[in-house]
Amino acid sequence: MEFGIGRRQFVGGLALLAGGPAWAQQVGKPPRLPGYPFTLGVAAGDPDPSGFVIWTRLAPLPGLPLAGLEPLAYPVAFEVAADEGFSRIVQRGEALARPELGHSVHVTLVGLEPGRPWHYRFRIGDAVSPTGRARTLPAAGADIAQVRLAVAGCQDYQSGLYTAYADIAQADVDALFHYGDYIYEGGSSASRTDWDSGELRASVRLHDATTTFSLDDYRRRYTLIRRDPDLQAAHASTAFLCSFDDHETSNNWVGDTDQGNTPPEYFRLRRAAAMQAWYEFMPVRADAVPVNGFSGPWRQYRFGRLLDARMLNTRNWRTDQPCSDRYGTICPEVARKDAEVLGATQEAWLVKGLRSSPARWNALLQQIMMMDLDRARADTRGINPDTWAGYQVPRDRLLNSLGGVPNLVVLTGDEHQHFAGEVRPTAARPDAPPKAIEFVTTSISSGSDGPGERREHAEVLRRNPGLKYVRDERGWSLMTVTPGGWQADMRVIDTIRRAGGKATTAASWRVPAGSLRLERVG
Ligand SMILES: [Fe+2]
Repeated sequence: MEFGIGRRQFVGGLALLAGGPAWAQQVGKPPRLPGYPFTLGVAAGDPDPSGFVIWTRLAPLPGLPLAGLEPLAYPVAFEVAADEGFSRIVQRGEALARPELGHSVHVTLVGLEPGRPWHYRFRIGDAVSPTGRARTLPAAGADIAQVRLAVAGCQDYQSGLYTAYADIAQADVDALFHYGDYIYEGGSSASRTDWDSGELRASVRLHDATTTFSLDDYRRRYTLIRRDPDLQAAHASTAFLCSFDDHETSNNWVGDTDQGNTPPEYFRLRRAAAMQAWYEFMPVRADAVPVNGFSGPWRQYRFGRLLDARMLNTRNWRTDQPCSDRYGTICPEVARKDAEVLGATQEAWLVKGLRSSPARWNALLQQIMMMDLDRARADTRGINPDTWAGYQVPRDRLLNSLGGVPNLVVLTGDEHQHFAGEVRPTAARPDAPPKAIEFVTTSISSGSDGPGERREHAEVLRRNPGLKYVRDERGWSLMTVTPGGWQADMRVIDTIRRAGGKATTAASWRVPAGSLRLERVG
């Protein structure tokens, strides 16, 4: 399937270099642009051993309808080089920025050498984009010494600056898993209530409109966010593995249900607009183009024989949250027999893949916490119904079907805090061997500056013996995977409420290969 890809989407660069015309001459004469078109930067994503998707979007006047462009398809040239100075160009070609996709460009590169960095850029007329960099995945079956994977998400624009992304851009990672909440759907809001203290805190910066419903609303929200220089730097530094969670559409939606009692047939219209905008702005493959308003890819990324990472979709096929989705409560519905998180097809793909995986390490890249933590502040047990804890039957079915899958690590977001802990089936004793280790990565900005330790943390740790660590600060995490062990460095930023915030590692945890045990190493 091709979408947004021009007739010369892939061109054997060497043949062109041997006798072809100069780069600028390969592009048809575009309509005149009213300004520099690459104001939203560049991005790469969804790598495999042979290539990845490169992305840009023409927006000369980002605040105007059509960003100041004509409702026409604009030819955009691209180049891929082995070096940062573009002296060794290996591919060049042309793609169309189509008005149907808001003049975004997705080019799926193929034919590149595995396991090394590549540099790419776009040109239209005399305007040249910033340069992006991304790595192809190692060859299948390659013995590699290390994978460095960043994890990030939950980036409420109004809550603070994207300083964590500036830190990521310097980290030279192999790829970044984005667990979702890339945008938030809410309108401009001058203040919000702090989760921990209950105090009103002023927004650091503002959304420029009301709540998003239409395609134009969502496009405008992504455009606002994508102009952030730190976010652009992170995108230009590495390939993103992009998923989505709820706020790309609306709070805590699952299946065809949102939390506002919107009739499903109307909610589907809103979700179709949201999914189109998500596709337009993400460097994802053509199979993520919404079909009849529905986009729900899940994917596998294989880092040689060292790591198989499977990215899940925990929104599209999930049944409604139990207990009226009330945080910190519990009800008989959590044991509903027909509940689903992944849906039958995705679950079967996952279980089959994990049980036959030849990789040293296996990872689940997903959105909602898999540990069934007791969150209650009162005497009775209570859960977060918007996590796997609200879905006991599919959760236990998955964990119990893993059998002897060794070295399984679950990477999650959504919680706006860092967590590290052990994952067990519901009925398992606290000292039974865990089925997996879970690292939950905190938010880039959502929640604004945290206290580090919340007043409730001591009680949460006491109630949940499998939970080893929790910290409420903004940041991201760096996973360093080697044949001997998996290390998670929890990065935090001291403040995102003003420029110049400092990044440090709040804690480092290690899982030795062959034993699902968490060891604090820093
Ligand atoms: Fe979030």
